[in-house]
Amino acid sequence: MEKTAQLEIEGRPYSLPIVEGTEDEKAIDVQRLRADTGYITLDPSYGNTGACVSTITYIDGDKGILRYRGYDIAELCERSTFMEVCFLLIYGELPTDEEFSRFKERVLAHSLIHEDMKSFFQSYPGHAHPMAILSAMVCSLSVYHPQLLKAEQTGEEREETISRLLSKVRVLAAFAYKRSVGEAFVYSRPELDYLANFLHMMFTTPMRTYEPDSVVRKALDVLFIIHADHEQNCSTSTVRMVGSSKANLFAAISAGICALWGPWHGGANQSVIEMLEEIHMAGGNYKKFIEKAKDKNDPFRLMGFGHRVYKNYDPRAEIIKKYCDQVLDHLGINDPTLEIAKGLEEAALTDQYFIERKLYPNVDFYSGIIYRALQIPTNMFTVMFALGRLPGWIAHWKEMIEEPGMRIARPRQVYMGATRRDYVPLAQRGSN
Ligand code: ACO
Repeated sequence: MEKTAQLEIEGRPYSLPIVEGTEDEKAIDVQRLRADTGYITLDPSYGNTGACVSTITYIDGDKGILRYRGYDIAELCERSTFMEVCFLLIYGELPTDEEFSRFKERVLAHSLIHEDMKSFFQSYPGHAHPMAILSAMVCSLSVYHPQLLKAEQTGEEREETISRLLSKVRVLAAFAYKRSVGEAFVYSRPELDYLANFLHMMFTTPMRTYEPDSVVRKALDVLFIIHADHEQNCSTSTVRMVGSSKANLFAAISAGICALWGPWHGGANQSVIEMLEEIHMAGGNYKKFIEKAKDKNDPFRLMGFGHRVYKNYDPRAEIIKKYCDQVLDHLGINDPTLEIAKGLEEAALTDQYFIERKLYPNVDFYSGIIYRALQIPTNMFTVMFALGRLPGWIAHWKEMIEEPGMRIARPRQVYMGATRRDYVPLAQRGSN
């Protein structure tokens, strides 16, 4: 028998269907509520709103579980690669040998951008934030591929759009970096794998060819796997929202990049390092910053702490912390911010304020320290996050666009403004 929830609206009973997920998540389906009763549900910031049914990523924030298509994040980090995870997220299954070769070939075939696009980069001031450049450039890709902008694409056209975007975004990110440090752009070497090619475009100069070592490559692979998806977060919901108007994929992803930029979302990785540096410069007294974070009259928040969904240790932070130690050890780097981060974490986890509110380190708390060890400048951290998140955004866009009966996303509101009033001409309004 279908399970239902009973609602009484001003004395009138109303029955709502219950939807149960494969991991026992339960939802009350309110899709017909307004049409049947005239009422809507009110949920600013969507803390209790399921915007879709999805088969991509499962999170249990209380237990600290994160799985992509059923596979545990820790196992994927240990045994898989970012490219394989891209395929898994976008197409739903781990690839066969043949599928994987074809996928890699398609992606690697598009690792150049139109020559004209280089002049765009040169028009930005040197201090331009690379996230601004990246979002503008991803949207600009649409100009060069008008054949891929159709709202109704064939399967082949969709594959073409996805592989071009996956590949070219690395070039755009690397060129944004080169522009910010005033170095010449370095062309892709299509014979290199996805991440090695990206690192080559970032760090090769006329003076030296960059060859990343295996520990660095593995750490970056893991960081990208960890960033790859996180179900209906702010940027992914933005991609779905924009994509629901049937805007093209480039436009939807560009919007997602802008959403990710904010310091309460992906921009937190930059803010964490800036905060740790500030604590270091102030003599390393992190306890003072804990007090600031607890003070309700102070807008300061402990960056890299807290999460809307995780009310337990973020499993991604646990994995990153391990790689953080490994990379720094391997490269022989003694970064004082790592010690400050560990001290801060320990102090926060034993502090009543953080315990009561279930505030734990999130994915961004340690990632910046690894990026810094890899010589990636602070303002590029969120760009790295965006590169990692790209397959997740694409997977959600694809899932949504392929859903039968898909409708444009269009929330409602409760209007609390002035009721109808008559216009008063300027001359009759008097003064304050
Ligand atoms: N430092 C101090 N206090 C905090 C922090 C923090 N980092 N995060 C939450 N709190 C407090 C809030 O002030 C609030 O306290 P109150 O109940 O006394 O008013 C309580 O904890 C609950 O916080 P909310 O703001 O309601 O939590 P929400 O789910 O809306 O926000 C968010 C989540 C934005 C991540 C928040 O924890 C935060 O700002 N963290 C710092 C920024 C950050 O690290 N963002 C990255 C998140 S991961 C990602 O997006 C990739």
